[in-house]
Amino acid sequence: MRESDPRIVLGLHRSRYERRILTSALDLGIDAIDTSFNYHGFSAHSALAKAANDLLPRFKVSTKVGFFQAAGQAEHSLDPVRLRKAAEKTIRDLGRVPDLVFLHNPERSLHNLSAGSRNALDMACAALASAVADGLCGAWGVSSWDPRPLPGLVEDSTPRPDVFMVRAGLLAGADVLDAAEALATRWDLGSDQLWGMSPFGGSTEDPLWSSLDARMFIRATGSGLSRVQAVFRTAYSLPRVGAVAVGTDDPCHLRDLIASLRYDTDDTSVNAYRRLLRERADRQPR
Ligand SMILES: NC(=O)c1ccc[n+]([C@@H]2O[C@H](COP(=O)([O-])OP(=O)(O)OC[C@H]3O[C@@H](n4cnc5c(N)ncnc54)[C@H](OP(=O)(O)O)[C@@H]3O)[C@@H](O)[C@H]2O)c1
Repeated sequence: MRESDPRIVLGLHRSRYERRILTSALDLGIDAIDTSFNYHGFSAHSALAKAANDLLPRFKVSTKVGFFQAAGQAEHSLDPVRLRKAAEKTIRDLGRVPDLVFLHNPERSLHNLSAGSRNALDMACAALASAVADGLCGAWGVSSWDPRPLPGLVEDSTPRPDVFMVRAGLLAGADVLDAAEALATRWDLGSDQLWGMSPFGGSTEDPLWSSLDARMFIRATGSGLSRVQAVFRTAYSLPRVGAVAVGTDDPCHLRDLIASLRYDTDDTSVNAYRRLLRERADRQPR
């Protein structure tokens, strides 16, 4: 068993919730898993408990609340009462208190920069801060796929999350990266409190990943590093994050991801890429 490495969080969004990947993760030193109230058809927490009840105490478990089941589909809500109930149900289904609960994609219910949206965000954040105070979770965070509206809504009164998770990597656009960094500054978060997610945009099968050689973003082009590994490693620099939530059901793939962390990104080429993203965004009609 290897020493634990906090830089990789095994994301269970697309997972089959099988025991094998969880035991492999622990053997490989990955002891953080990220799931959500709505993953696996709203049954992720019970599926996890069923597959690996005995292993769960060995993991740092993060999950998310914000999507709810309604008339056979998912609906988003920032209603503090619903968020609280979801946090309570999470404990029942998981059979333990999660280490971290994220407010899931708050932007989905924040349609404008009005006082109403500001208030809704503050109340939702306060509901999660209260959940921590009441022992329903160890810490709370915000997880945002599209953080662009958030910097305009966060005020001094907005409770400060312990962790902020954002889309990361080569597919995150300039505005998303800028918004993530603005929020990290606003909340005064250290890089270990900033997590990236979805480094491959959900799939390594996308033709983009075989056309683009992301090894150009790696310092002293490490021999033996694959393109997929380079894409993953680069996600830690776009934006600069301390951990990345990445999905895999394959222990060999997880081993490859871990191996990529031996390499460093090349700041010059990453910064040049960011400039290109910014120029491209500036050319888009607003
Ligand atoms: N709004 C939110 O809060 C939000 C949104 C999206 C994602 N997330 C978080 O981020 C996590 C990851 O995101 P994601 O699942 O969207 O996508 P992802 O991590 O970008 O991509 C996952 C895919 O990459 C493949 N893969 C991983 N490592 C590989 C390797 N070494 N070689 C080849 N293929 C590899 C996996 O296939 P195999 O199984 O075959 O390895 C899997 O299908 C989620 O589980 C969740 O925790 C959060």
